[in-house]
Amino acid sequence: MADVPARMTAVLLKEGGYSGKNEGPAISDASLYLEEAEIDVPTPGPGQVLIKLRVASVNPSDCHFIKGEYGQPRQKGKPAGFEGCGDVVAAGKGAEALVGQRVAFVASPDGSGAWAEYAVTNAIMCIPLRPDVSDVDGAAQIVNPMTAMAMVDIAQQDGESFIISAATSQLGKLMTGLGRDLGLKPIAMVRREEAVESLKALGAEEVLVTTDPEFEAKTAAISRALKPRVFLDAVSDQISETVFVNMPNGARWISYGKLNPIPPKLTQMGQFIFMNKRIEGFWLTSWMGSTPPADQMRVVQEVQARFADGRWKTDVSAKLPLRHIVSGLADALKKPDGKVMITP
Ligand SMILES: NC(=O)c1ccc[n+]([C@@H]2O[C@H](COP(=O)([O-])OP(=O)(O)OC[C@H]3O[C@@H](n4cnc5c(N)ncnc54)[C@H](OP(=O)(O)O)[C@@H]3O)[C@@H](O)[C@H]2O)c1
Repeated sequence: MADVPARMTAVLLKEGGYSGKNEGPAISDASLYLEEAEIDVPTPGPGQVLIKLRVASVNPSDCHFIKGEYGQPRQKGKPAGFEGCGDVVAAGKGAEALVGQRVAFVASPDGSGAWAEYAVTNAIMCIPLRPDVSDVDGAAQIVNPMTAMAMVDIAQQDGESFIISAATSQLGKLMTGLGRDLGLKPIAMVRREEAVESLKALGAEEVLVTTDPEFEAKTAAISRALKPRVFLDAVSDQISETVFVNMPNGARWISYGKLNPIPPKLTQMGQFIFMNKRIEGFWLTSWMGSTPPADQMRVVQEVQARFADGRWKTDVSAKLPLRHIVSGLADALKKPDGKVMITP
């Protein structure tokens, strides 16, 4: 750790545990949840590495987490941030092979978060990056791309068409392009009319605009024509339920996000009995725990290849230095069509 300073700037969680609320990922004022501080640079334990940050991403999961509404508890006083890209500058016992490598990483609960000049995480949460993958793509290399690969794989086992909500999201765009490349027919749902053409250009067979007065009739017609049996849903609201009840026999509603905090009401219980319909969840953390390492490695390699050759890219809406997160995150998140990226 010769060139590593003793202290660093980090953005810390102000609260621990869960909030008990369900407000959704919108952030009105980041200072309610986060504070900037100078703290000791953490030391990697056995099997861990210390990473000097290049870029960290801001995902909806970060927003849910800092508000205490995610699937794991906050740790008060620890740096926030789940995902980033940086250089391994030190390692604990057993992880020395990663020193000197540029890696994509996700934070581990027994390490520290990515919204800091340095982060400690487990070596198994790091993916060495090919030189032709940019830092920005590296900082958004794991959470969304791995989820896209896993969920489109689920979809393609159940027919050639599938529905994606919040299709203007980074994950929605990745899944639309991947579906097209696999010869599938993605049906994209958006809430902004102006996004229709860009989704079609990415590979959507059809684009449904949720604010269109004819939305339900168009959903029913497209569902009859393309017979989508999987609905990959990041919004999970009443509009989602409308889509689900218009899908054919055997349809699966897979909820993987709760962008709208107002939950849906089920209106057609008979469809579960007579049409063999199902509601499920997907969480990448569970997928990683249940998928053999060799299969995960194939997914990692395919993800990097897609970013390296330009089939996938990360759209960036704003770059925010660490020192501006507390004051600037809420405004930065209002910009559409891309990720907020954090720089040291
Ligand atoms: N379960 C898992 O393992 C897993 C893994 C990765 C991601 N996710 C989830 O996947 C979703 C997308 O993540 P991302 O990083 O790709 O998002 P992102 O790029 O930050 O984009 C956010 C998207 O959400 C849309 N949106 C926000 N509130 C909405 C609402 N109330 N109704 C409809 N659309 C709304 C926005 O639409 P506009 O463009 O119209 O503003 C935008 O397209 C999130 O819910 C995230 O938590 C889950």
